[in-house]
Amino acid sequence: MTTSTQLRPDLTDKVVVVTGSSRGIGKAIAIACAQRGAAVVLNGRNEERLASAKAAVEEHTSRVHVVCGDVSDPKEGRRLIEEAVATFGRLDLLVNNVGVSMRGAVADLQPEVFQTVFASNVFGTVNPTIPAIPELRKTKGSIIFISSLAGIRGLPSLSAYCSSKMALRALAESIRIEEHAHGIHVGLIQVGITEIEHNKETIAADGSLQVLQNRAKGKVQTTEQVALAVLDNLRKRTFITTLTAIGKLNAFLQPRAPMLVERIILNSLDKFAEKSK
Ligand SMILES: NC(=O)c1ccc[n+]([C@@H]2O[C@H](COP(=O)([O-])OP(=O)(O)OC[C@H]3O[C@@H](n4cnc5c(N)ncnc54)[C@H](OP(=O)(O)O)[C@@H]3O)[C@@H](O)[C@H]2O)c1
Repeated sequence: MTTSTQLRPDLTDKVVVVTGSSRGIGKAIAIACAQRGAAVVLNGRNEERLASAKAAVEEHTSRVHVVCGDVSDPKEGRRLIEEAVATFGRLDLLVNNVGVSMRGAVADLQPEVFQTVFASNVFGTVNPTIPAIPELRKTKGSIIFISSLAGIRGLPSLSAYCSSKMALRALAESIRIEEHAHGIHVGLIQVGITEIEHNKETIAADGSLQVLQNRAKGKVQTTEQVALAVLDNLRKRTFITTLTAIGKLNAFLQPRAPMLVERIILNSLDKFAEKSK
């Protein structure tokens, strides 16, 4: 039987907050942390989904606390961190996982789509991060941002999403320098296409919610693979982790040959549209 001490990193006595952990990648990260001994604080807006995620985490630890709230609201971001510290006495890791996606060419977008995406993806990251920093200074802890391959370059039909994930990189870079002397580690995970939980929605060009098609298992990464990459980034206290072969190739080529990357995308627009469904 595997014990938490055999699972690296060992997170015994550590306290982890994962935003947007009621399903998908956030839930997998919360479970992976619990398996390694951490106390876990879950967050999301939907109480039913949170109750189901809590039951899954409780299979690995009794030290789990739920904060139901919308982190795009600064008060809720602060409450999340305050409740975590009040419940477990410290904070060692904040995983900023909350993220919503969108579809649609810029010409067709209601401007509100940008507001909705930035509310969750950017403000929903800044709001818990600001109150977390003084707590993380005490523990020399970590902040990990869940970004995307869409944060490496602007992609068709994903403008608001790409812009929001690029903003996370700037935020992460600023904090790394500002908090260097305080010993806070900042990581950024550029996630590739990953399996999704049934009924995950995206925001359509008109602002309505559209349910995404389920993704074929075996062709995309699992949420557990992403969670392991997060833990590896944490253990090594490294900056950027880029997932999938196509992601690594894109991260290598984009700064060196952006026009080549643009040509490759222009030549595969059909495939691209299919993958975005
Ligand atoms: N899946 C992929 O292929 C993929 C690829 C690259 C990057 N990513 C990134 O990975 C992260 C997780 O993606 P996912 O596919 O696991 O998404 P998901 O299944 O839709 O989960 C998103 C989570 O965030 C919560 N959430 C959303 N907005 C929130 C808000 N304002 N306040 C509090 N909770 C909020 C959702 O719960 P409620 O709706 O109940 O609040 C849910 O728990 C995102 O940052 C995403 O951009 C995913």
